[in-house]
Amino acid sequence: MPIEQSSRLRWIEVAPTEAVVHDIDIIQGLQQVPKTLPCRYFYDDRGSALFEQICDLPEYYPTRTEQAILEDCALEIAQTTGACELVELGSGSSRKTRLLLEAYQQLNHPLHYAPIDVSAGILQDTAPMLLRQYPTLNLCGLVGTYEQALSNLPPVQLDRRMLIFLGSTLGNLNPQECDRFFTQIQQSLQPGDFFLLGVDLQKPIEIVEAAYNDAQGITAEFNLNILHHLNDRFQGNFAIDQFAHSAFYNVHRHQIEMHLISLKPQKVLLQKLGYQTSFYAQETIHTEISRKFDLPTLTVDLKQRSLNSVHIWTDPQKWFALLLCQRQ
Ligand code: TRP
Repeated sequence: MPIEQSSRLRWIEVAPTEAVVHDIDIIQGLQQVPKTLPCRYFYDDRGSALFEQICDLPEYYPTRTEQAILEDCALEIAQTTGACELVELGSGSSRKTRLLLEAYQQLNHPLHYAPIDVSAGILQDTAPMLLRQYPTLNLCGLVGTYEQALSNLPPVQLDRRMLIFLGSTLGNLNPQECDRFFTQIQQSLQPGDFFLLGVDLQKPIEIVEAAYNDAQGITAEFNLNILHHLNDRFQGNFAIDQFAHSAFYNVHRHQIEMHLISLKPQKVLLQKLGYQTSFYAQETIHTEISRKFDLPTLTVDLKQRSLNSVHIWTDPQKWFALLLCQRQ
């Protein structure tokens, strides 16, 4: 890794860029009817940068709503947990996590932070800034998927640990994946450890649909970036301008569904995977779901995994919630 290791910075790479073994899920996805693609392929370095732009869009309420909640409750979280290591899944630029670091710093707790992301670039850009901003911070960056990272966490250095999962990324997992994920969280925590979870709540459709169909087209670009990424990574020849973004709310499943629509009949080759597939006009690739939660159901699901919600914060409109859970 080009980042310099130092006494305050360690670096664990659990997902080497060429880990083709895991990339088999691309072929499996494209062989399904309708076609799908695993959503983690959104987040190459370009995708992560585009997602940062989404977070600032006027229509995309989740980031700023979660940020506002966190501004109000960060100190209370730090007081409740006491000194503990922060391990963040999908940390991106760690924008919101800074509020937590500030709070732990204010209470003179030692600062241990392990950001985890599939995009090495965003971690490498963020780490030096964090080290500069927090002179006592110990940082351990992990490059990898959640599953890989959770089974390769650095040894615990403080008595407690808090896993952090913000941005309603939980909503990008389907119910089965969500179940498996909670089990993994449970297994990565000791009794008494914490899990901080940010989730988007159910609300009127127009507000949700606008958040995934912004006027500037950044979300469309982000959705299409998955094809860019596949072209780059596997010498593919997706004609990106021959696909269109589509996002709509499924009322029954309480979820946004994101698709790419093939604008004409076309063939696509992913050379490095030795795989070719074809599309008929208007054929879709399902790229993402974003589920919207209701708190009573969610807290029961968590409790079944020994994750008790000890405190829940929301915004005045109840659009978004932050749950502090403790492993029993
Ligand atoms: N976790 C984010 C969400 O569900 C991810 C996201 C936001 C996203 N906008 C997107 C994923 C557009 C795909 C396309 O809100």
